[in-house]
Amino acid sequence: MAGSDVLVVGGGIIGLAAAWEAAKRGFRVTVVEKEGFGGQASGAAAGMLAPYSENPEGPDPFFRLCLDSLSMYPEFVREIEETSGMDAELRRTGSLGVALHEADLLPLLSRSAWQLAYGASCELVDADALRRLEPRLAAGAAGGLWCPAESHVQAPKLVRALEEACRRSGVALLGNAGDVTDFEIVREAGVSLATERLGKLSAGRAVLCTGAWSASWARWLPLSIPVHPVRGQICAYEGAASEVRHMVFSSQAYWVGKNDGSLVCGASEDVAGFERSVTAQGIGRLTRWSGRMFPFLAGVGPLRSWAGLRPATRDGWPLIGPVPEVPEVIVAAGHYRNGILLSPATAALVGDMLDGKGAGAAYGNAFAPDRFTRRKGAAG
Ligand code: GLY
Repeated sequence: MAGSDVLVVGGGIIGLAAAWEAAKRGFRVTVVEKEGFGGQASGAAAGMLAPYSENPEGPDPFFRLCLDSLSMYPEFVREIEETSGMDAELRRTGSLGVALHEADLLPLLSRSAWQLAYGASCELVDADALRRLEPRLAAGAAGGLWCPAESHVQAPKLVRALEEACRRSGVALLGNAGDVTDFEIVREAGVSLATERLGKLSAGRAVLCTGAWSASWARWLPLSIPVHPVRGQICAYEGAASEVRHMVFSSQAYWVGKNDGSLVCGASEDVAGFERSVTAQGIGRLTRWSGRMFPFLAGVGPLRSWAGLRPATRDGWPLIGPVPEVPEVIVAAGHYRNGILLSPATAALVGDMLDGKGAGAAYGNAFAPDRFTRRKGAAG
């Protein structure tokens, strides 16, 4: 019955990356997306490839996954650009974790103490060095942590390039399909899925890359998928990118300059269900912090603001792996703040799973989709 070998559900960065990887491994792949490709969290993201800044606590399987993915990024982007003929704007600016006050230095110090052993090549810099690195920062900033290994991409452009690379690699891309209305596992034959606008599709296996919308799949699977949306409000100052050389992080916000001249400032973390509007409070907080960090932005209103829904899990780690007792279905969702960064490593794991390799073991099965619901003592 299978129309394709692999049906990827969800056309964000994770779904497209998984589809591309599967196609490269010789599978016939279809991606079904309810709206436009990259129209949700992937298209809203600031595109930071920042495993060190995003993981201040300590080395764990999630940090290792982030590092592995960062190391895959240059080749991932090169191949996508070569196949698509499009530019994803990978910029190796490095990052600066800025302490506006002395008290903010301690977390940067403890972060650098353990991250040096993991290739961060980061360096604590005093107030003078900080201003030489980033001259438009607030004069009173106490110091910072410079991390040259971190970089960023223009996420919407990366998604468009990946979509085109998929198309040119023979992936069938079915956008604007509407909601999934039915899903069935047909033993020994694969899966069958119906959507509002496309009717019935069938495939040997399915990969669920449904981001913040993943929880609703529990109605068709013997697994609860505890993913919920956390809104990220974000804004951009036009023409300000040339004033800021690095990705800059504070404890309250981050700033990233893009090739089009915009300086992106993000992001709130608020729970508002599936609401994607911005609020005066959310954007106001970002503009206040922008003025504190960069005095030239004080009183300046951003020209654009938008929001995306991060797919959050209870422990902040993604769900990557087969559904227990349903090997036809693989989940790759819940990437929360790091979907752009984690797309190549997730795609490689999904590719290995499709190839029948025991892929999750490399990370101690830390991302198993049933880790919240498994009975104590049960295997896996
Ligand atoms: N990766 C940054 C954010 O989610 O805001």
